[in-house]
Amino acid sequence: MESTFKAGEVMAYGLIFLSKQEFLIRSFERLFQDGITNRHLQPSVRMSFFSWLFLMPICPLLLISFRTIVVSGQCFGNQQSLLLQLKNNLIFDSALSSKLNLSELTELLLDGVNISAQGNEWCQALSSSLLNLRVLSLSHSYLSGPIDSTLLKLQSLSIIRLDNNNLFTPIPEFFANFTRLMSLRLRSSGLIGTFPRKIFQVPTLEILDLSNNHLLNGSLPDFPHNGSLRTLVLGNTSFAGKLPDSFGNLKILSTIDLSFCNFDGSVPYSMASLTQLVYLDMSHNSFNGPIPVFNVAKNLTQINLSYNNLTGQITSTRWEELLNLVDLDLRYNLLEGIIPVSLFSLPSLHKLQLSNNQFSGKLNEFPNISSHVLGTLDLSSNYLEGPIPMSVFELRGIKFLSLSSNNFNGSLQFSVIQRLKDLSNLDLSQNSLSIEYNGTESLLSAFPQITTLKLSSTKLKTFPGFLINQSKLRHLDLSDNQIMGEIPGWIWKNFNLDHLNLSRNSLVRLEGPLLNLSSLSVLDLHSNQLQGHLPVLPPFATYLDFSRNYFSFAIPTSIGNSLKFTHFFSLSSNNFHGNVPESICNASYLQVLDLSNNSLSGTVLQCLIEMRSSLSYLLGKIFHRRQAHRNKDGGINCYEGVMQLGLTLISSVSI
Ligand SMILES: *[C@@H]1O[C@H](CO)[C@@H](O)[C@H](O)[C@H]1NC(C)=O
Ligand SMILES: *[C@@H]1O[C@H](CO)[C@@H](O)[C@H](O)[C@H]1NC(C)=O
Ligand SMILES: *[C@@H]1O[C@H](CO)[C@@H](O)[C@H](O)[C@H]1NC(C)=O
Ligand SMILES: *[C@@H]1O[C@H](CO)[C@@H](O)[C@H](O)[C@H]1NC(C)=O
Ligand SMILES: *[C@@H]1O[C@H](CO)[C@@H](O)[C@H](O)[C@H]1NC(C)=O
Ligand SMILES: *[C@@H]1O[C@H](CO)[C@@H](O)[C@H](O)[C@H]1NC(C)=O
Ligand SMILES: *[C@@H]1O[C@H](CO)[C@@H](O)[C@H](O)[C@H]1NC(C)=O
Ligand SMILES: *[C@@H]1O[C@H](CO)[C@@H](O)[C@H](O)[C@H]1NC(C)=O
Ligand SMILES: *[C@@H]1O[C@H](CO)[C@@H](O)[C@H](O)[C@H]1NC(C)=O
Ligand SMILES: *[C@@H]1O[C@H](CO)[C@@H](O)[C@H](O)[C@H]1NC(C)=O
Ligand SMILES: *[C@@H]1O[C@H](CO)[C@@H](O)[C@H](O)[C@H]1NC(C)=O
Ligand SMILES: *[C@@H]1O[C@H](CO)[C@@H](O)[C@H](O)[C@H]1NC(C)=O
Repeated sequence: MESTFKAGEVMAYGLIFLSKQEFLIRSFERLFQDGITNRHLQPSVRMSFFSWLFLMPICPLLLISFRTIVVSGQCFGNQQSLLLQLKNNLIFDSALSSKLNLSELTELLLDGVNISAQGNEWCQALSSSLLNLRVLSLSHSYLSGPIDSTLLKLQSLSIIRLDNNNLFTPIPEFFANFTRLMSLRLRSSGLIGTFPRKIFQVPTLEILDLSNNHLLNGSLPDFPHNGSLRTLVLGNTSFAGKLPDSFGNLKILSTIDLSFCNFDGSVPYSMASLTQLVYLDMSHNSFNGPIPVFNVAKNLTQINLSYNNLTGQITSTRWEELLNLVDLDLRYNLLEGIIPVSLFSLPSLHKLQLSNNQFSGKLNEFPNISSHVLGTLDLSSNYLEGPIPMSVFELRGIKFLSLSSNNFNGSLQFSVIQRLKDLSNLDLSQNSLSIEYNGTESLLSAFPQITTLKLSSTKLKTFPGFLINQSKLRHLDLSDNQIMGEIPGWIWKNFNLDHLNLSRNSLVRLEGPLLNLSSLSVLDLHSNQLQGHLPVLPPFATYLDFSRNYFSFAIPTSIGNSLKFTHFFSLSSNNFHGNVPESICNASYLQVLDLSNNSLSGTVLQCLIEMRSSLSYLLGKIFHRRQAHRNKDGGINCYEGVMQLGLTLISSVSI
């Protein structure tokens, strides 16, 4: 019942108590709802959108004096009569409506009220009665389009808020004729077509939010001098083209969100003069050229220029002056040169993300570490070289640290890394580092919060014993190291482990049993020296690679039961004997099956032939020519079929 009150009812109610004091509307909305509930009003009672205007006179006393807002007990009586009216199926008296004069009403705030009206309905209803309306706020009101030009009668309109509706209509150009328009918010309102450029140029406009209208396109016009815009939010639209050089005329602009649009061209140099800038997000476009110099924007807190094609160095900005900078995200660009060490001294910086660029050179020690609040440092996938500065390990608040895929070199004691007690995500993989873990370090949980630990290619020689106590660990990558001996049994007892990569080491034994592995989704043990029987497989894995080891004996006959969710399965280059078990036919999600380079024999499984449409990669060397050629009567030749499949698709899959 609670959810069935209808648009008209609440509209009627809302407007009765409408005033500059919005709280009254809100509180009484609830009362009204209660009223409905208590009186067991039929949910089918429903008014059209118009009705609320005509129902007003039911509470005329209040309306006349609504400026003084003595809502008082009076209205409860009236409310009851209103309810009565509703119950009596809303037969309204049009004569009454003329008694109503709402021309003094200046604010209509009915956000979240289900109005469910078509464009001509709600536009005409508003424009015929609320001539002095200044604030129109109907977000989340189930309004549809089109927007009717009668709305233009409301020449006092200065704040228009129609977020979260389903207008499915273009914004008409006449919006530029609202001469007092200050704020236009149309986020997630299903707009389509091209946004009229004239609206950007309305001399009073301060706030424009068109975000999350994926089908809305348009481009930016030239902006006049001393533009009035403070907030420009176009994220997640199809706006495109270049930013005009006159962008710098928007002297008081403080919030810019152009993320996930289709803008290109260079970022206008004039942006360097936007002194009031606080929030800048131009990520996920195709901007190129250098990044602007931000020195004058002393209040900048967020800069996100990630996922563009920006080039050049970032040394022109005097970063040390941006004392309010909290987030700097320049990931996925083509930026080069050194990383200015002044960035690491910024007192407010929480997140520094510079990965996937072409930064190079040595990273110097950072000055003034102690004041640091840095929680995220991502410098991965650049060309940084030399030793990792020890200052990194003084960033005691750091949670996310990735320096992977650079050319950092030198050796690093594990005990130094262990200073970073709050780490939840550590990636030092793919450098030229030697991490020295000599086993005498504390076995106590080294990183109580860690969930992702990636130390691939770090010349580790032993299995780090502290891992036994890392109960939150979900992703462990120790691949391409020099770890010898056995995979300790305790690794399988971590119930949270989801991703385990121990490939390319010198592991010889796997201490079982591999029980309780239900969390494990990816297990990569390829290129070790593991021997003996294939172990029991984790039951829900999607990726299993045991290739290039010394496993032998037969493939367990029930193998398929452990491959129910597996996309990738490789036993290649081991020493398995015997038949391919029939149960492998149960592996219905398999895309890659590689059993090559073993000593398997037996017949081609018909199911594998049938699975060819879903299997994108199958190495068929396992099959003996003799058996494969059995089918000589012009039908499908299994051997050739399988081989052909294996060969044609082998090139299209990269592993
Ligand atoms: C409504 O009130 C305004 C002033 O409050 C007045 O100018 C206008 O004539 C009134 N309209 C009607 C139809 O009474
Ligand atoms: C809004 O009201 C319309 C008409 O009364 C109704 O069809 C629709 O289901 C309502 N939507 C919600 C979410 O209440
Ligand atoms: C809006 O104003 C322009 C002139 O500034 C005028 O030509 C146009 O007709 C107006 N549009 C409407 C719908 O009134
Ligand atoms: C903008 O959208 C409209 C309607 O979807 C389409 O006709 C028009 O070609 C689009 N314009 C651009 C520049 O993409
Ligand atoms: C912009 O406004 C400032 C003061 O508000 C004024 O001093 C300046 O001359 C104006 N500039 C232009 C180009 O209009
Ligand atoms: C754009 O869409 C993404 C993904 O849906 C969302 O995370 C982001 O907040 C949106 N941006 C804006 C400005 O609405
Ligand atoms: C920065 O913000 C502060 C406080 O909000 C304000 O007083 C100051 O004028 C701003 N500085 C600039 C350059 O806009
Ligand atoms: C960057 O430029 C390259 C080459 O011009 C282009 O293929 C790529 O799509 C661009 N990326 C972005 C994010 O614009
Ligand atoms: C850009 O970065 C800011 C600050 O880190 C973040 O709040 C925003 O969500 C990012 N934008 C996108 C589109 O992810
Ligand atoms: C370090 O901080 C102190 C005080 O906060 C300051 O006086 C000094 O100039 C800073 N040094 C550098 C190199 O930033
Ligand atoms: C690390 O690399 C630099 C060049 O970037 C080289 O000069 C230095 O000798 C290397 N150090 C070690 C320990 O390999
Ligand atoms: C192990 O490393 C610690 C510091 O990381 C060092 O103090 C200790 O001497 C080393 N032990 C051996 C046996 O190398």
